[in-house]
Amino acid sequence: MNCFKSSLFSLFLLAGFTVSAQEKTLQMVAPFKVGCAINPFLLNNNKGYKAVVSNEFNSITAENALKFYSLHPKRDEFNFAMGDTVVNYALANKKRMHGHCLVWHESAPKWLNEFVGDSASWDNILKTHIQTVLQHYKGKMTSWDVVNEAFFDDGNFRTEKTNGTNKSNKTYWYNHLGADYIAHAFQYAHEADPSTLLFYNDYNQENSPAKLKAIIAMVTDFKQRGIPIHGLGLQMHISINTKNEGIITALKEVAKTGLLIHISELDISVNTHHDSTLVYNDSLKALQSEKFAFVVEQYRKWIPKKQQYGITCWNVSDADSWLVKWHKSNDWPLLFDKNYQRKECYTAFYNSLKK
Ligand code: XIL
Repeated sequence: MNCFKSSLFSLFLLAGFTVSAQEKTLQMVAPFKVGCAINPFLLNNNKGYKAVVSNEFNSITAENALKFYSLHPKRDEFNFAMGDTVVNYALANKKRMHGHCLVWHESAPKWLNEFVGDSASWDNILKTHIQTVLQHYKGKMTSWDVVNEAFFDDGNFRTEKTNGTNKSNKTYWYNHLGADYIAHAFQYAHEADPSTLLFYNDYNQENSPAKLKAIIAMVTDFKQRGIPIHGLGLQMHISINTKNEGIITALKEVAKTGLLIHISELDISVNTHHDSTLVYNDSLKALQSEKFAFVVEQYRKWIPKKQQYGITCWNVSDADSWLVKWHKSNDWPLLFDKNYQRKECYTAFYNSLKK
């Protein structure tokens, strides 16, 4: 290494950048947007995290900062501080900003869980929340997940009755407003900001034919009734054991809607039995790399170019993946390791984007 090269090399190390043989990053080679879900605390306090987000991705989703409880902590109070940090970062760095999410049963603040009122007051809360948020971010958000996870895996609407034992599974919106709360939410969003693209987002579509069918039926119904909807998000929290056929079927089916299709929360778990002694060995790494490549290849194969809204990973590195907390066990579901270095599955993902 000559003198100039070696000082450049040290500079890279000092700046906390990943130094590898690969010169390009995901956003440079991908034929569509590649994103990640981020958290404002890590963005402000962790240099490795910020370098990866800035260098590799060109679409941003806020992990939690734009959820109902974050933005609307009291009935008459909105707090945009955390949300603004994420949105301003995205815009300042010329990244696409995707909003997540306006309506979700798991994101209720305490006041909403305790709220008692007739259906008109529930509808008013829905409208006020959506329209205040959309007006605040008008002109800044390319798109929003308007409603998240409205269906159970069996294709029924998520309601209190069907799964009443688990409080976090209640959908107060359904119970107070009926199935049409979903259409209302899309209409309210469109009224407040007609230029933003509106998505319905859900998980397990690759694994639950009944849920997939229900989502497609909802889209058909919306189209017939003129309810504005522009895209579908497939979360794709999958594992190395997820069946390839299910992924293909889901992609083929959603493509037929003609809507934009976003793989919106991709991560690939290797610790499928939540085993605390599991070692992330070479064969697990190989299976995971294969699956990451498969998702990209199938997305490119089945989703027509004009419908390819992009692929977003849920979090940035194995150090910050939500799955570790969620399952209370080790996992390595993302493209970067705990030190924000590219993993084997990064290379597989990168190569299938580049093809
Ligand atoms: C998760 C976040 O990552 C966690 O930090 C939070 O505690 C719970 O929510 N589907 C979604 C996301 O649509 O909003 C969820 O995010 C992960 C599952």
